[in-house]
Amino acid sequence: MLKLSHDPFLCITTLILITFFLFSHETEARLHHHKDRDNPNPKPEPNLDDPSQSPSPTQEPDHEVVYNVRNYGAVGDGVTDDTDSFKTAWDSACANDNNNNTFSVLLVPYGFTFMIHSTIFTGPCRSYQYFQVDGTIVPRDGPESWPSGSNKRQYWLVFYRINGMALKGSGVIDGRGKNWWDLPCKPHQNVNKTPVSGSCESPTALRFFGSSNVTVEGLSIKNSPQVHLKLDGCRLVHINSLRITSPPLSPNTDGIHIENSNSVEIYSSVISNGDDCVSIGSGSYDIDMRNLTCGPGGHGISIGSLGNQNSRACVSNVTVRDSIIKFSDNGVRIKTWQGGSGSVSGVTFDNIHVDTVRNPIIIDQYYCTTTKCANKTSAVFVYDIVYQSIKGTYDIRSPPMHFGCSNSVPCTNITISDIELLPSKGEIGMDPFCWNAYGIVDEFSVPSISCLKSNLSTSMLSSLSGKCGSL
Ligand SMILES: *[C@@H]1O[C@H](CO)[C@@H](O)[C@H](O)[C@H]1NC(C)=O
Ligand SMILES: *[C@@H]1O[C@H](CO)[C@@H](O)[C@H](O)[C@H]1NC(C)=O
Ligand SMILES: *[C@@H]1O[C@H](CO)[C@@H](O)[C@H](O)[C@H]1NC(C)=O
Ligand SMILES: *[C@@H]1O[C@H](CO)[C@@H](O)[C@H](O)[C@H]1NC(C)=O
Ligand SMILES: *[C@@H]1O[C@H](CO)[C@@H](O)[C@H](O)[C@H]1NC(C)=O
Ligand SMILES: *[C@@H]1O[C@H](CO)[C@@H](O)[C@H](O)[C@H]1NC(C)=O
Ligand SMILES: *[C@@H]1O[C@H](CO)[C@@H](O)[C@H](O)[C@H]1NC(C)=O
Repeated sequence: MLKLSHDPFLCITTLILITFFLFSHETEARLHHHKDRDNPNPKPEPNLDDPSQSPSPTQEPDHEVVYNVRNYGAVGDGVTDDTDSFKTAWDSACANDNNNNTFSVLLVPYGFTFMIHSTIFTGPCRSYQYFQVDGTIVPRDGPESWPSGSNKRQYWLVFYRINGMALKGSGVIDGRGKNWWDLPCKPHQNVNKTPVSGSCESPTALRFFGSSNVTVEGLSIKNSPQVHLKLDGCRLVHINSLRITSPPLSPNTDGIHIENSNSVEIYSSVISNGDDCVSIGSGSYDIDMRNLTCGPGGHGISIGSLGNQNSRACVSNVTVRDSIIKFSDNGVRIKTWQGGSGSVSGVTFDNIHVDTVRNPIIIDQYYCTTTKCANKTSAVFVYDIVYQSIKGTYDIRSPPMHFGCSNSVPCTNITISDIELLPSKGEIGMDPFCWNAYGIVDEFSVPSISCLKSNLSTSMLSSLSGKCGSL
């Protein structure tokens, strides 16, 4: 549990500095370890004892079978295309069966930068896989070196149909996004908000698709052309101690995006980027987030956007606790389009510290990325939402709380307690905003919230259609 005293940022900064110190110390030790083992033999050597296997993996005493990509021909000079070596190493590791309680380690060693092109690492594998990244992985640099057309530009590194895998290490996955962010069609290039022709599609750096029992831990993922880490069609995913960074003005660079996935934990990660810190799309449930630091920059933690193009969306049982959001456009947000259906329910935001955040608490059921979207009679139903212990400062350009619920489908059972939101500059704050929002507020919240309605009749509730099945 992260206890936030009167000077939380000093504590957090100190923590990060200590972590960083330990961390660099550890990589130093690793460097020596890998130097001893790898550098004397940079070329793959055929195993003379077993001519059927060339090159051979190393059998470690603790039942790891290590597949060092360098032994499969990867050069690691940051220029040579090492894609084929990675694929061969993966295929070998993935085919290694677990008959003697061994597991496979695909090793991306420290001290090298591997350039690999858009790749799908496919399972299922015959045993649990470790993909250990201690070095750096980069893609081809910029849109002109990626094939145009088709869907080749959608993803860079994809893990597909893997059941049981850990992607970890002290290394870096660097998406080299700059030339993608600078495409003329990108929003921040486009001051007049006029559409500029040409393909705008940019790759997501890392995607887990149709996979389960996956751990992603320890890595730095930075400068993705678009989303940094995407989970779709996954279950049982544990994300821990990631560091995700891209500049505040990099467009669409969500930190972690989740959709159609369940039983996902995201813990102890630090994310500063140009879009949502974490975003949760339709089909997601049982999502638990703790001890996250979002910002500076970015759009906070978002559920949505949901219900685009009259679609049905279901999100339930999402918890975010013990986290910090700083210098961001939003804190905790639920955003839906007019015209959708389905529901968002069972969401808890607890013990969130905000620092100079523009919309610390926001439900926006009029989400619209073009200039004007028509109001519709249907909407994604938002209910059973808890905001507890949300404290800190807000940027007074927007109210500290904004509940903009649909005209026809109100938000119901919003529970608010222990709120303390003060303007970051000056003394005069803004009043909370509510539209068609029902719920319960404790009387000690700062600022006081009087705009939430308390008496939605049950006849009105029962008329709401389209909500998703209960949890
Ligand atoms: C499994 O490991 C044990 C001890 O480590 C060894 O004696 C045995 O030969 C191994 N079996 C196979 C199939 O590799
Ligand atoms: C996930 O993988 C670990 C490591 O192999 C294994 O012990 C565990 O049983 C797996 N869990 C599930 C739910 O498959
Ligand atoms: C919270 O996350 C930070 C990394 O951001 C880590 O150093 C710290 O140990 C975590 N705290 C807890 C209680 O897990
Ligand atoms: C909500 O999700 C958590 C995991 O994040 C799970 O332990 C819990 O059982 C779920 N609750 C319900 C009511 O499904
Ligand atoms: C939609 O409804 C909201 C709330 O009543 C209103 O403020 C807004 O102007 C409407 N938008 C349009 C495009 O009619
Ligand atoms: C209101 O929401 C809370 C939290 O999700 C839930 O525990 C409670 O049962 C809901 N109340 C009603 C009347 O549905
Ligand atoms: C609901 O509460 C408002 C004031 O908060 C009151 O004006 C209105 O009459 C109430 N409606 C019902 C049906 O009780």
